[in-house]
Amino acid sequence: MGGKFQSPQLSDGVLSARRLRSGPPEDNHWQHFARSLFYVNGSFNDARAYAQLKARLESIDQQFGTPGSRVFYLAVPPGAIEVCVDHLKSAGMVSSPAESRSFTRVIVEKPIGRDLESARKILADVGKAFAESQTFRIDHYLGKETVQNLLVIRFANSIFEPLWNKNHIDHVQITVAEEEGLTLRDPKTHEITGSRIGYYEGVGALRDMVQNHILQVLCLTAMEPPWSLAPDVVRDAKIGVLRCLRPMTREDVKMSVVRAQYIAGDIHGEEVPGYRHEVREYFTSRKEPMPSESTTETFVAMRLFIDNWRWANVPIYIRTGKRLPKRASEVAIQFKDVPHILFNAQPDIPLEPTVLALRVQPEEGLSLRIASKLPGPKVRIYPVKLEFNYSASYSETTPEAYERLLLDVMAGDATLFMRRDAVEAAWEFVTPILESWEQSWDRFLPEYRAGTWGPLEADKLIEADGRQWRTL
Ligand code: BG6
Repeated sequence: MGGKFQSPQLSDGVLSARRLRSGPPEDNHWQHFARSLFYVNGSFNDARAYAQLKARLESIDQQFGTPGSRVFYLAVPPGAIEVCVDHLKSAGMVSSPAESRSFTRVIVEKPIGRDLESARKILADVGKAFAESQTFRIDHYLGKETVQNLLVIRFANSIFEPLWNKNHIDHVQITVAEEEGLTLRDPKTHEITGSRIGYYEGVGALRDMVQNHILQVLCLTAMEPPWSLAPDVVRDAKIGVLRCLRPMTREDVKMSVVRAQYIAGDIHGEEVPGYRHEVREYFTSRKEPMPSESTTETFVAMRLFIDNWRWANVPIYIRTGKRLPKRASEVAIQFKDVPHILFNAQPDIPLEPTVLALRVQPEEGLSLRIASKLPGPKVRIYPVKLEFNYSASYSETTPEAYERLLLDVMAGDATLFMRRDAVEAAWEFVTPILESWEQSWDRFLPEYRAGTWGPLEADKLIEADGRQWRTL
C-alpha cells in the first residue's frame, strides 16, 4: 500500500480519497455491519478473559470464513499496557509478522509515557510481543485532512517550497486553541456530564498536546522533502526535524517557555469555573483525597528552534491551551518583510507581512495574505486574503481523523503513525522542560482568565522578539 499522499487520480489503493466516504452510514449498511459486532468483557489482568476472547474470535473466523487477522486497540491507561500485551502474547493471540495469510497488529493510544524513561518502558513492553511493523502508535492529528495536506501544499506546488526556508521565512506559529475546559456540563442545567480531570491532572498541556500532536505537525511543516512516499521514508524525514530541535537548558525554559492555568472567566458570555475548582469538584464528587493545589498547566506557549540548514535561527512559536476564546488550530508561515523602500518605505506604517495560514480546524483550508492596491487613483495598499476552503471546494465530507487512521491500520500503512524512534525523540525534547519545571524553586504558575488568549507572559514571550501572536 502506497503512502497517503498519492494523488487520488493515480491511486487505486483501498484508501484512495475517492473511495473513503465519510459521514453517518446508510441504514442498511449499518444494519449489515452491526451484525458483525461482538462483545466480550473481562479485566486487563484476567487470563481467562483473553482465552475467552481468543476462542470467540476463532469461532467468528469459522462462521465468516475470515483468515484470523487481528487488530488490538490498546486505548488503556499507560500502566495497563504491559499486562495487556503480556496476556495477549501468552494467550497465543499474537502471530508473527511473517505470517502471510493473516496479520496481527496493535494500536497504541497516547499517553505513551509521562517522560522519556516511562515512554521507553512502554515502547519496550509493546516491543516484547509486537514487531515494529505490527505496531501503530496513533496520533489523531496526523489523520486530519489539513495536516496531511501540509505535504501536498509544500511539495505539489512550485511556488512554496523554494521559499520554505530561513532566507524567506520570518517565523512560524502553530496554534492549537480549545474552548473546552476539563469538565463537561449540561448547557442548561450546568450539571457535570463528564470530566477529564482524572486523566489530565498531573499531565498538563505539554504532555497532552505538545509532545505528540504539535510536534508531529511541526515535523510535517519543517521536514525535508522525502525521496518517496513509502512510510519509512516519510517517517525518516520527519524524525530529522525532531533530532534537530535545539535542546532547552533550564535558562532556555525560563526565557522561552510559558505555562499557565485558567481561572474562572466566561466563554461566549457564559461563566465558567477555573481549573482548580474543577479539580476540587472532581475529587470531592468521587470522595477521593484532594491532591495539593494543582500546578498542572492548561496552557503552554514556547519559542523553539530547529538547528539545521533550512531553519537556522527561524523562531517557531507554538501555543496551545484549554478554555481559550475559541476552537481554532492553524499553522502559519510568516514570510519576511519586503525591503523598506517603495510601498514599504514608511517605518511607522509598515506593510502587513505575507502569511500563509493552514487552518486545521474548525474550518479546514488555507489562506494566503498578500498586499494589494486599493482601487482608486492613489496608491494605497491593503492586505487581502486568497482563500481555499475544503468544504467550499469539495462536496465530499472530510473523513474523521480516526476513520482514516483505523483504515490505514487495516491496510497496514504506517505512514501516519509514530515510529518508536519518533516517540523517543519527542520525549527527549520535552522531558528537560518538564524536569526544569519540577526542579524550579519558583512554583508560581501564571494564570489566565477562561475565555482569553492565555497569560500576559505568553504575549511578552513573542513581543520580546518584535512579533505578535496572530489573531484567530
Ligand atoms: C487529545 C487530547 O489528544 O486531543 C485532548 O488529549 C484534546 O486534551 C484533543 O482536547 C484535541 O483534539 P481535537 O481533534 O479536538 O483537536
